[in-house]
Amino acid sequence: MTTVEFSPAAEPLAAKLLEPAREILARYPAGRERSALLPLLHLVQTEEGHVSPAGVAFCADILGINKAQVGAVATFYTMYKRRPTGEYLVSVCTNTLCNVLGGQEVYDQLVEHLGVGHDETTADGRITLEHAECLAACDYAPVVTVNYDFTIDQATPESAVELVENLRQGDRPTPERGARICSLREMQYQLAGFADPRDGAVADGVAGAPTLRGVRLAQEHGVAVAGFDPDTPITKTKPARNESALPPRTDAADKPIEGKPEGRIATVAKKAAGAVKAAAGAVAEKVDERRHSGKAAEQAGDNAGRTTDTGDLKDPEVRTAERRNPTMDTPDRTGDAEATTPVPENQAEAAGVAANTPAGDGKPAGDSSRGEHIVSQRTAEQKPEATDPNPGWQNVPRVTEEEK
Ligand code: FES
Repeated sequence: MTTVEFSPAAEPLAAKLLEPAREILARYPAGRERSALLPLLHLVQTEEGHVSPAGVAFCADILGINKAQVGAVATFYTMYKRRPTGEYLVSVCTNTLCNVLGGQEVYDQLVEHLGVGHDETTADGRITLEHAECLAACDYAPVVTVNYDFTIDQATPESAVELVENLRQGDRPTPERGARICSLREMQYQLAGFADPRDGAVADGVAGAPTLRGVRLAQEHGVAVAGFDPDTPITKTKPARNESALPPRTDAADKPIEGKPEGRIATVAKKAAGAVKAAAGAVAEKVDERRHSGKAAEQAGDNAGRTTDTGDLKDPEVRTAERRNPTMDTPDRTGDAEATTPVPENQAEAAGVAANTPAGDGKPAGDSSRGEHIVSQRTAEQKPEATDPNPGWQNVPRVTEEEK
């Protein structure tokens, strides 16, 4: 194996992580080692709890890529943390289904109880809180995970507070489902692709009642897929098509064509091609028509001899739709009230518009005004630290205009 020369920033991590890192690299074909970046970033987090500048340098050096390439990946995925994290990462789903079933209330209650907001860690270093967008357990909504393991199903604000209190006191409560709770660093080791020998470190089980509810309801109501036999094994390859069952091929004049019958896909493709051709012809005709009418107006008008706008060649219906949702390229978008303010077309649409404040303030969806208020109040009460004890590569201080 080739010797890697580590930069001074990466050396301390290399002294600890070189051996498991080499083990990760060995899983990939020669020349494709850079694909190991994702597990390597998890490995880095086992040591530091986040992807530090040293972690970025370590990954870049061992893979022979530059730090910007590592940073691009590390900043894309939410599972790579940019700041030091606590021992337990408590994630509350505030996505659609969890939200309607109380996920936001659970999150807000934790914000209030812990005094931290999204992606922030309690002063004792135990808990990092985050709201997540679908934890892939919608059937158990609202859900709370600890270090990515399902810990509370159908969570309530009370059960969530009880959980974090237990964790803060050093207990590791038994999760309702999933593996035994471990520390975030232990979890990072698993995510880097190493077996965790702890008892109950990996858990799997049969599907629970909420997951099977749809099946049960279908059984109770006699809903079934016609011809479905649960005892018939699923074939791995498609059975041969019974071509003789297809209708005979005919030409445009409905005369039978000799040879093999045409497959259904070929028939559909042929029909689609015909439809596209017809539509293209219609558009070309329309464009021609407008060009001619533009030319006629030019010749008849005062502007003879000057360059004349040939007019908007787009279909009026398409243009109307664009004006209702304008982009920078949409003509006349400025000053056109209709272009910037969509007009509801019916009562239901009007009610929807009235009930929803416009999006786009750039804030994470889970940070409700209640949560933000709680956090800003707490922040105002706390004395700010003079310096960040653990500045990350992402925490480059901003230079003000005056300082420049
Ligand atoms: S919406 Fe919460 S788990 Fe899917």
